[in-house]
Amino acid sequence: MPLIRPRSTAGIALITTLLLLYLWTSSTSSTLSTTPSSPPPVWRTPQYESYFWTTLPTNYPPKQIRPLPTTSPLKFPRIQAASPSESPEALKTRLQRQTAVKDVFSKCWASYKRHAWKADELAPVSGGQKNPFGGWAATLVDSLDTLYLMDMKPEFDEAVAAAASIDFTKTDLDEVNVFETTIRYLGGFLSAYDLSADARLLSKAVEVGEMLYHAFDTPNRMPITRWAIHAAMAGKKQVAPAGLLVAEIGSLSMEFTRLSMLTRDPKWFDAVQRITEGMAAQQNATALPGLWPLVVSAQDEIYSVGDTFTLGAMADSVYEYLPKMSALTGGQLPVYREMYEAAMATALKHNLFRPMTPSNQDILVAGTVKAADNGGGVKATLEPQGQHLVCFLGGLLTLGGKLFGRQQDLDAARRLVDGCVWTYKALPRGIMPETFYMLPCPSSTCAWDEASWKKGVLARAKDADKASDDADAIISRDRLPKGFTSIPDRRYILRPEAIESVFVSYRATANPSLMESAWEMFTAINATTSTRLANSAVWDVTRPIGEDPGMADSMESFWMGETLKYFYLVFAAWDDVSLDEWVFNTEAHPFRRLLP
Ligand SMILES: *[C@@H]1O[C@H](CO)[C@@H](O)[C@H](O)[C@H]1NC(C)=O
Ligand SMILES: *[C@@H]1O[C@H](CO)[C@@H](O)[C@H](O)[C@H]1NC(C)=O
Repeated sequence: MPLIRPRSTAGIALITTLLLLYLWTSSTSSTLSTTPSSPPPVWRTPQYESYFWTTLPTNYPPKQIRPLPTTSPLKFPRIQAASPSESPEALKTRLQRQTAVKDVFSKCWASYKRHAWKADELAPVSGGQKNPFGGWAATLVDSLDTLYLMDMKPEFDEAVAAAASIDFTKTDLDEVNVFETTIRYLGGFLSAYDLSADARLLSKAVEVGEMLYHAFDTPNRMPITRWAIHAAMAGKKQVAPAGLLVAEIGSLSMEFTRLSMLTRDPKWFDAVQRITEGMAAQQNATALPGLWPLVVSAQDEIYSVGDTFTLGAMADSVYEYLPKMSALTGGQLPVYREMYEAAMATALKHNLFRPMTPSNQDILVAGTVKAADNGGGVKATLEPQGQHLVCFLGGLLTLGGKLFGRQQDLDAARRLVDGCVWTYKALPRGIMPETFYMLPCPSSTCAWDEASWKKGVLARAKDADKASDDADAIISRDRLPKGFTSIPDRRYILRPEAIESVFVSYRATANPSLMESAWEMFTAINATTSTRLANSAVWDVTRPIGEDPGMADSMESFWMGETLKYFYLVFAAWDDVSLDEWVFNTEAHPFRRLLP
């Protein structure tokens, strides 16, 4: 303003000061005289009071609400190793690799925006859209924290603005999966809020939380995991199911607890703590004490009847959330450590096996146990099936081993992570299939024995009713690499668990070979799954390079929410999302840990 002379500037400044002083004193005094309470919390938007899920009446209100714990948080041992030293060339390579991961993410994001904006998923071959998760923009919400961490500020701002308009009171789905909604949407919002402190994200987390809270509106306050949402909207009375997957009820704890920590409203914590109490009380009463069976009853609160015990699909995150709850709450709830230690003692003893490999690798794979009591005590039988999904276990045992000082967990973790890396390399495209069988070594020597392997192949083929008495013919027909006795599910669906464990293990050990393995996995995955628009799940990773692995035209939101985030973080600065300050939910959304 060049026309204003110095004196008049001073005059304007004086008037402004007086005006501000007046406004300040008048607002202060009016606050003091009328409302002595603190200002409303940041998440309580003007719409909150009239939000559908807030106002919908509750049929079975809880009689009492457990408060959040108030004891001082513990100081846990460090998880991350000291930052490794790095030559200028190594730095250059690392940053180039980080950029390469970001480039793949950016391409997928641009295509999602262009072809499937606010849909749950982009169809990465046809350019169409899919809405399997309520139609609430699952990919957008799952990607918020990745955008933030990759420093894509304009895209993040645009995504937050779009997320603010998602309407959680409408869906075309008949049945909502409460677990998936919790880990992807609630977890996505909480993490993006923890990272960015943008209040709009906490408001959205509360909206999702208010909706999900109605899935707990049953006589015993246990949740309905596959939830008929329109009946709930109509105010109908509901009961919890008698048969459900243990992972779907047992791994809601992190998100609900974080929501209570951030809002200071304990009702979500109370909802999940009731489940934890029941599971803790029955943990040692199962056929394989320490582990819970795959199927449990929420209606009767029975978590101990059943004969199948796995850390794989449909159970995995129950175990994952035990040490992670300890990390999240600063150890304020000792029950989680106790449950973790009891579970891992059993899993290490019964579920892990060393497979026979041509190079006699010292690796472990986690299988499934069938336990049955036919009178003379429980007999546990190992089913030596590996799953890509179980690769999370190496990262989990690393975390639990470090937090609670358990060397046996760290030893098993190293061999499990090596097992996942080995399995990637053993397949012709450098990618692990969804499921596979291997031959457990008969003894601790584990020397390669081609004849035993072929016998194992024949036995598996017989089990699968693909009878043949010629092992070589089966090996060639099914394209079985040496060591594998069967590969029932040949897909790779852009899963994160292997790189997740490599990332956690790398941060805990600073072992540079893990960073190299990560890069090999990334280039292999990118080479096989890239489409014109993005990346796609493929049908058959046993087909050699040069043949068509078969594009499935599917890109689940975890590709951008988890897989690419973990790849990126392997090549990030050492303290970028340090495991000593953050803990990841099962959808790779980092939450801030409660620290002393
Ligand atoms: C990923 O795949 C795309 C498509 O084939 C390719 O253009 C890109 O260079 C690849 N990136 C890396 C790091 O290999
Ligand atoms: C279950 O057994 C383990 C180990 O035997 C023990 O540490 C734990 O306290 C037991 N849990 C319960 C609830 O009794």
